[in-house]
Amino acid sequence: MSEMNLQALLQRVNSTQIAPGNPRVRALTERIVTDLFKTIDELDVSADEFWTAVDWLGRLGAAGQLGLITAGLGFDRLLDIRADEADQRAGRQGGTPRAIEGPLYVAGAPTATYEVRVDEGAPKGEVFVMEGQVRDLQGQPVPGALIDVWHANEQGGYSHFFPGMQPYELRRRIQADAQGRYRLRSYLPPGYSIPPNSPTSELFEALGRHGHRPAHIHFLVVAPGLRTLTTQVNIPGDTYIDDDFAFATRDGLVIELERGVAPAGYESLGIEAPFVRSRFDFVLTPALNDSEASPLARIARITA
Ligand code: BEZ
Ligand code: FE
Repeated sequence: MSEMNLQALLQRVNSTQIAPGNPRVRALTERIVTDLFKTIDELDVSADEFWTAVDWLGRLGAAGQLGLITAGLGFDRLLDIRADEADQRAGRQGGTPRAIEGPLYVAGAPTATYEVRVDEGAPKGEVFVMEGQVRDLQGQPVPGALIDVWHANEQGGYSHFFPGMQPYELRRRIQADAQGRYRLRSYLPPGYSIPPNSPTSELFEALGRHGHRPAHIHFLVVAPGLRTLTTQVNIPGDTYIDDDFAFATRDGLVIELERGVAPAGYESLGIEAPFVRSRFDFVLTPALNDSEASPLARIARITA
């Protein structure tokens, strides 16, 4: 092996191959390696700094926290911004805004038709009902639309990720009725915070950043022929509503709350006292192909 300088090594790394490989993967790897070589050279990264970063990445992956970092460094929102811009260029307008899925969705939640209690047992916050309709761009109801809903518990934890929670706690799937209507009872959740003493919190401490998200509720809405909508709504009044560590707050997704709503008509959800209500309709846009309509969250989509 001959002696090489940085440029010669980079050229060798990026050009060596014994088979065509995957051209897209080759192009992306070339770009990332080139940018990292440049970063290491220009910022004079030491060997200790480099191996510390590699060790951190290993621990981040082992802790299952890669999705926290992608969101916290803005990549999840970046993908939404790019999708919005692509829609604008294509003249695709309207519909409920998309918002990041985050890394905490779990498929297979119990399904109910029209209405469901997302919480179990005693409320651990203000009793909350969210209700509305799934519609298309023409305002027509979408009967049978499937709405996955998931949110954090009173400590900001999500089931399947937070110790001590039941499987599918605070996760449900609602099939809209013949008029496209849904309603759910739960409690108003607090925000989410990144786990303390974790690879993620190490980076955020080093960046001098907080790791808090404002209170929010996630939705994944699916119906045949319509584009799958991944979104989340924000609960107004949260300290972090304009300072989300995942940069996901969006206009049109901060719900309005009506407090002191009379319980009449909500008995089937076990409500007997005044409660907090929000009305929110999901508006879906047409799917241009099967993949836009396929009922898949992000992990299922990439492994399909
Ligand atoms: C969340 O939705 O709670 C979330 C999103 C991104 C990173 C971490 C959590
Ligand atoms: Fe969340």
